[in-house]
Order: sequence, then C-alpha cells, then structure tokens
Amino acid sequence: MTQEKPKPPTTTDAGIPVESDEHSLTVGPNGPILLQDNYLIEQMAQFNRERIPERQPHAKGNGAFGRFVVTNDVSAYTKASVFQPGTETEMMIRFSTVAGERGSPDTWRDPRGFAVKFYTSDGNYDMVGNNTPVFFVRDPMKFQHFIRSQKRRADTNSRDKDMQWDFWTLSPESAHQVTWLMGDRGIPRTWRHMNGYSSHTYMWINARGEKFWVKYHFKTDQGIDFLTQQEADHLAGADGDYHQRDLFQAIESGNHPSWTLYVQIMPFAEAETYRFNPFDLTKVWPHGDYPLTEVGRMTLDRNPTDHHTEIEQAAFEPNNLVPGIGPSPDKMLLARLFSYADAHRARLGANYKQIPVNSAEVPVHSYSKDGNMRIEKVSDPVYAPNSYGGPEADTDRFGEPAGWYTSGQIVHEAYTPRRDDDDFGQAGTLVREVMDDAARERLVNNVAGHLLDGVTEPILQRAFEYWRNIDEDIGKRIERAVRNHNG
Ligand code: NDP
Ligand code: HEM
Repeated sequence: MTQEKPKPPTTTDAGIPVESDEHSLTVGPNGPILLQDNYLIEQMAQFNRERIPERQPHAKGNGAFGRFVVTNDVSAYTKASVFQPGTETEMMIRFSTVAGERGSPDTWRDPRGFAVKFYTSDGNYDMVGNNTPVFFVRDPMKFQHFIRSQKRRADTNSRDKDMQWDFWTLSPESAHQVTWLMGDRGIPRTWRHMNGYSSHTYMWINARGEKFWVKYHFKTDQGIDFLTQQEADHLAGADGDYHQRDLFQAIESGNHPSWTLYVQIMPFAEAETYRFNPFDLTKVWPHGDYPLTEVGRMTLDRNPTDHHTEIEQAAFEPNNLVPGIGPSPDKMLLARLFSYADAHRARLGANYKQIPVNSAEVPVHSYSKDGNMRIEKVSDPVYAPNSYGGPEADTDRFGEPAGWYTSGQIVHEAYTPRRDDDDFGQAGTLVREVMDDAARERLVNNVAGHLLDGVTEPILQRAFEYWRNIDEDIGKRIERAVRNHNG
C-alpha cells in the first residue's frame, strides 16, 4: 500500500462522507456515545456479519485465475467448446484441504481439493477434483459418515485417529485412497507440486453423437514434490498458511505455475465388459490399458485481490456440465450433482450464481427470478412457453442427452461384482510396483506414527490386518513398528 496516492474521503456504505475515522460521536470528550453516530453503528453491525458459513468439507483453501489453452485435437471425442483445437478459455482454480477448518494448517496430511471453473463459450464448466485419482468410499451414503470420522468428536471437540481408523478399517474400499494418503503424495510440498485428477469417470460426446468414457489427469509442470511428516509438522506450527503463501508469491513474482491436462479414454461399449467396474471411484484405470492423451495446458497468472468475494464466495458444482461433457454411472458423482448446488444455496444464498466469480461470461437467459440478494433484473415474460419473445431451448445444441441405457429392480445394493473387483489389489500394486524402498519405509513410518496417536487395541488389530491385506510385508512392518514402540 502506497501513501502517495491521493486519499478519497471515507464514506458510509451509502456514500455519505463521514466525520471521523477515529472518534465516535460523544457528549463532550468524556461523555456517553450517541445512537445517532450512524457510521460507528454501521461499522459495528457490518463487522458482526463479516463471516459466512465455511464450506463443510474443504474449508481451508485459496486459489487463482488463469487460462486453459488446448494443445491437441481431441474433437474426435468431445464437441465441448473448451476442448476444441486452438481454444483459449479463462478459468479459476481453488486448492484446499478437506478436513480442517478455515484457519487450519495447510500442511496437515489430507487429500487436496483441485476445483477448476472454466468460463467457456457454452457457459461455466466446473471440474471439481482432488489431487488423488481415487476416493475413500464408492457409495454416497457413506460420504457424510466418512467426513464426520475425519473431523471433530462430539465430546472432546478434537480430531481423533481412533475414529478415523475405526471408519477406514470397517470400510475396506478405503484401502487404495488411504495408501495414497499415507504415502508421499499425502502432503504435497506446495499446491504447485501436485497433480489434479477428476477421479470420477465422465462422458464425452463428439459432434456425431458418439460417446466415450474419460478420466482427467492434470499433471503438474513443476514436477511432483512432497513434504516429509516432520517438515509438515514443523510448518503446521511455524507457517500454517504455507501453501497459500507459496502460490500467491509464485504468481506475484511472475513464476506462473502450469499443469498439462491429459485424459484416459475408454470406448463406450468397453465399460460393459471391462474386468472391473470402471465407474468405481476407488479404482484407477491402469495406464497400460488406457494411456494418457494430451488435451491442453492450464496456467495460473493472476492472484485474487479480495479473498472473500473471489475465493470464499466461489461456488464449484460438478453439475455444471457443458454440451459435449456428461456424467457417468458413478454413484458418487451422481450424488455430487445434487450436493454442491444445495451447499451453495445454504452457504451463499439462492442467487449465488450472480456473484461475479460464479457468473458466466456468456449471456444468461434463464427463467430463474427473485430470491434473496437478486442483482440481475429479469424481464417479462417470466414463464415458458410464451408468446412474447422469451428464450426458447435450443434442442439441437445438446444433441442426444448425455445418458446411457439402464434398467433393473430398485434395490439398496453394492455395484454388481466383476472378475477383478477387489478392495486391496490396486493399493497393493501402488505399494509394491510404484513406490521404491525409501517411499515404502516412509509409508510404514507415517502409518505407524498415525496409529500410535491414540488408536485403541481392537482397532489397532483391524488396522494391521487391513495393511496385511494390502501387502503382507508392509502389514507386518507396520505392526512391528507399533508394537516395538509400545514395548
Ligand atoms: P503406472 O506405472 O503406469 O502408473 C503409476 C502411476 O503412479 C504414475 O504414473 C504416477 O501417476 C503415480 N505415482 C507415482 N508415485 C506415486 C506415489 N508415491 N503415490 C501415488 N502415486 C504415485 O501403473 P498403473 O497405471 O498400472 O497403476 C499402478 C498403480 O499406480 C495404481 O494401482 C495406482 O495406485 C497408481 N496410480 C495410477 C494412476 C492411473 O491413473 N493409472 C494414477 C496415479 C497413480 P501420475 O503420473 O498421475 O502422478
Ligand atoms: C467440497 C460434498 C465427494 C472434491 C464439497 C462440499 C460439499 C461436498 C457439500 C462443500 C461445497 C461448498 O460449500 O462450496 C461431496 C459429496 C461427495 C463428495 C456429497 C460424495 C458423495 C468428492 C469427491 C471429490 C470432491 C469424490 C474429488 C474428486 C471436492 C472439492 C471441494 C469439495 C475439491 C472444494 C470445492 C471448492 O474449492 O470450493 N464437497 N463431496 N468431493 N469437494 Fe466434495
């Protein structure tokens, strides 16, 4: 902030010049304060209303603005305008941790949110992913319970490792994501040094109406890097905002981080017969089966100037899908299509899409009207169909709905099992084939350290078994490390 700029006069929120920035209106210098001090009262009242509810999960985070440039022709797979050759699209991103509150340290072990909003010529497209390609559960019925097990207990109001391992060991489908989390990728060095994944499978539709299944991988151009548990613990005390400061300073100094977007593409019909359920969110598609195809590059080059209006009020929603992109039968994704807009209506109000960071760059012609804090005016006619020139759906624009054929008895059941469906196989591959000896040693120490922090006996035994199911040797080493420590 420079002192040299001419200073505008302070006003009230109504634009009326105020008499003093420093002294309230009193009867004599020592006298009582007067209710007619409109500015003092406005300042106190506004202050009391500054905080809005934080996001339930992913409360701590920050973001930046930039652009996405297409570098490869994938028009054979999608007609989405944002992915057409030569297209450049303004975008924003918010990175976050999941379990901590708004003021929590950036370096706690946790997945990181990787939420991207593309301001496309077909309206806003949101890709709300994480820095991991899989998730802890595969049915949305368990999501709320999972998040509660990671947050605070009712009695002590503290986080509790016993509760976390209780949930994980009773939910073996969590094994792949927990292995990921306890490994090096569980604490990225900075947000610039991690990848982002859609995790879910989405549908792409090309101009001929042909459909494909895709998974997104945003690979960091800065290279993957991580913090050890010790470094992260130190930073959690010394600099709780380490990650957000790093991103801000990098962009401020012209060191603009970028990510290259790749997709794995599965022909539509192959999903039926693939050896495991390709819509199961606890699994990756092996690169050997579905290699990566380059799409484009995302570069962040602008910092927000007001965190509250540009980041805290940013509302990402997986249901913001544009022509050429659709959902898949992943049950988690289908639930998310409801949950986010509902969260925004509760957190920001019914007209949250009119907050500038959330508003489309193309004209909006919806029939929504009124509601709290409405800013955009509506004009008649306010109903459809009408005879007075109101907007009319362009039924050709979307083409065939982004759907698939389905039928069946209505049930509460797990996905129909397939030959290679299991909870531990891919976690075991990660430990045995992707990690090296040093990474495996850090994994053992990270898990043992976690388990030694208040996990009680019956759950400890389940945890050892859980790790033996992932990998016999790693399970034994974890058990030995915990037992030796406890004597
Ligand atoms: P690949 O050898 O082709 O892929 C392994 C991938 O693992 C790498 O490309 C890298 O993904 C990622 N990776 C490297 N080090 C770590 C680490 N310490 N923690 C987590 N991920 C790491 O094998 P497959 O495709 O057959 O997958 C084997 C295993 O690798 C899977 O079971 C899964 O756990 C993991 N993996 C697979 C991914 C996939 O989409 N197929 C993606 C990421 C991990 P990246 O380049 O994306 O960083
Ligand atoms: C945030 C629900 C699974 C990534 C949120 C929020 C809710 C939510 C309610 C807060 C939104 C807000 O207040 O702005 C759910 C439900 C899920 C689920 C019901 C499963 C059924 C996932 C998965 C991913 C993910 C699988 C990643 C692939 C995110 C991210 C944010 C978020 C990145 C933060 C977005 C931001 O930066 O504003 N989730 N979630 N979530 N979720 Fe999920």
